[in-house]
Amino acid sequence: MSREPTRLSHVIPLTHVPGTDSSTCVLDSFRTAIAQRISDALPPVTLEQAYAGVDYGKKGADFTVALPRFRLPGKVDELAAQVISKFQADPYVESVTHEKAFLHFRLNTNSLVRSVLTQIHELTYETASKEPEYGTNKSGAGKKVVIEYSAPNIAKSFHVGHLRSTIIGAFLVNLYRASGWEVISVNYLGDWGTQFGMILSGYEKYGSQTELEKDAIQHLYQVYVKVSADAAADPNVKVEAAKWFRRMEDGDEEALSKWRVWRALSIKKYEAEYERLNVKFDLYLGESDVGKEWQDKALNRLDELGLISDANGAKLVDLEKWKMGKAVLRKADGTSIYLTRDIGGAIERYEKWKFDKMIYVVASQQDLHVAQFLKVLNLMEFPWAATCEHVNFGMVLGMSTRKGTAVFLNEIIKEATGVMHDQMKKNAEKYAAVEDPESVSQEVGITGIKIQDMAAKRINNYTFNWDRMLSFEGDTGPYLQYAHVRLASISRKNPNLLPLPAPAAIDIAALVASAHARDIVFLLASYPDVVKTALKTQEPSGVVTFAFRLAHAISSAWETVVVKGEADEEKARARLWMYLSARDVLAAAMRLLSIRPLERM
Ligand code: ARG
Repeated sequence: MSREPTRLSHVIPLTHVPGTDSSTCVLDSFRTAIAQRISDALPPVTLEQAYAGVDYGKKGADFTVALPRFRLPGKVDELAAQVISKFQADPYVESVTHEKAFLHFRLNTNSLVRSVLTQIHELTYETASKEPEYGTNKSGAGKKVVIEYSAPNIAKSFHVGHLRSTIIGAFLVNLYRASGWEVISVNYLGDWGTQFGMILSGYEKYGSQTELEKDAIQHLYQVYVKVSADAAADPNVKVEAAKWFRRMEDGDEEALSKWRVWRALSIKKYEAEYERLNVKFDLYLGESDVGKEWQDKALNRLDELGLISDANGAKLVDLEKWKMGKAVLRKADGTSIYLTRDIGGAIERYEKWKFDKMIYVVASQQDLHVAQFLKVLNLMEFPWAATCEHVNFGMVLGMSTRKGTAVFLNEIIKEATGVMHDQMKKNAEKYAAVEDPESVSQEVGITGIKIQDMAAKRINNYTFNWDRMLSFEGDTGPYLQYAHVRLASISRKNPNLLPLPAPAAIDIAALVASAHARDIVFLLASYPDVVKTALKTQEPSGVVTFAFRLAHAISSAWETVVVKGEADEEKARARLWMYLSARDVLAAAMRLLSIRPLERM
């Protein structure tokens, strides 16, 4: 649906610059108006070239253009003078100043405020999908991406690497959807491998149906740990386990029927825990799903290319030429391995979905592994191999609970909830007012974990710190939830001003007059750009930074730009509109980060 929320371009029509869309990002039209002036004054610079040179402003300007980028003959001072002498203020641009090689532009405040807040309103409350759409764009329309993330191993621990993959992956799923892509989100479970041989060999001795049904993830892990201890004392256990795994690979029904139940019960448990994290998968795949056929074809193809060698019956692929070492593709006993399953799995996914892109969200510890299987796909000359991408991330150091090292997701969530609950109790008065402290502390605790995880560049390692991430001070998850709750409270506290009139009927003079309000509106206007940049970098940190900048800007306005206590109702209403818009945009940013914004806490 094409709409014209700014209505400004009805007053002064603009030439459309390819790649821009003022119906989802009002700033695109302001940038176009600036670019128009540049290209008019400085031939042969085209409108598109000029547009590419319009950057966010430096030194208090809204937008800045660096003149040298156009590589024009003549001195920058003369070029600047050419632009300035032709400049006329209009409803888009109010003024231009010149400083060294830069031109600084200031937008017309009245149009800025009106068009931005109107667009937020329309794209939040009047969308065809009935879902809030402010910040979304259609750059990925018609394209399909497969995003694989989380990928824990059944019967082993859910470590922080899996937690990071879950958090970053969920963000990417939201981000690609917000950019118009069709997304298929998959969890690639470690549901195959010798650990199941171990469990099969010890299940009679250590397994319990009741425990299994209570918590399959926990129970299978416990059995695995006990059998592993036995194996350390008695080498026969390993031999026995290998036989069991061999039977699984050969399709032995006795082995598989047990394994199937374990897998299904584990998935059920995972689903419940992901739900608490606000994470959902379209599909649970697993290493077990990968068919033999493509694994064999891969081996044959690499053999043809002269890259396979035999080491005591095992098959090795030699990737030394690409500095990726040698890797085993098949064990001597013929059983498949992790690397080969990834090769076959990728091919099957392409056959099934014909994706335009596939993303693997996997820890940087597996950089070599991922590089190897992507290289093999590339050597097999699949054209789509080039569209597969590894989104990696650094390590988390020192995550533990008060009782010791955390191994399961539910323990991490429990700990976050407990620590947060204690934190909230410190303020007895506020605590008494919270309706459901248990669920609030869980939500805020999870927000704390997610924000700490996404605050810096993915590749950075960081140290897990409960106190820091769950404090209400500093740029933390609890602070962000608090900022949202405070904005949400404003409608409860001002029922006399609601419902607000239609956007066009609100008198915005009070906002135009306030520098605080202008800052907030400009930040709100930049949100669609924040989303686009995040898609380019595939980094959540820019969105986190944006959310805190917005929270801080609101904080600085809060005491002076008041709603409650403002005698002039026109003024109060305009301000309320701004704060409610800020709430909508903050909530959108939080949801993009997979965080559920709270109404009360
Ligand atoms: N299950 C694996 C692990 O825990 C991670 C899987 C990553 N994805 C992949 N396609 N290899 O180490």
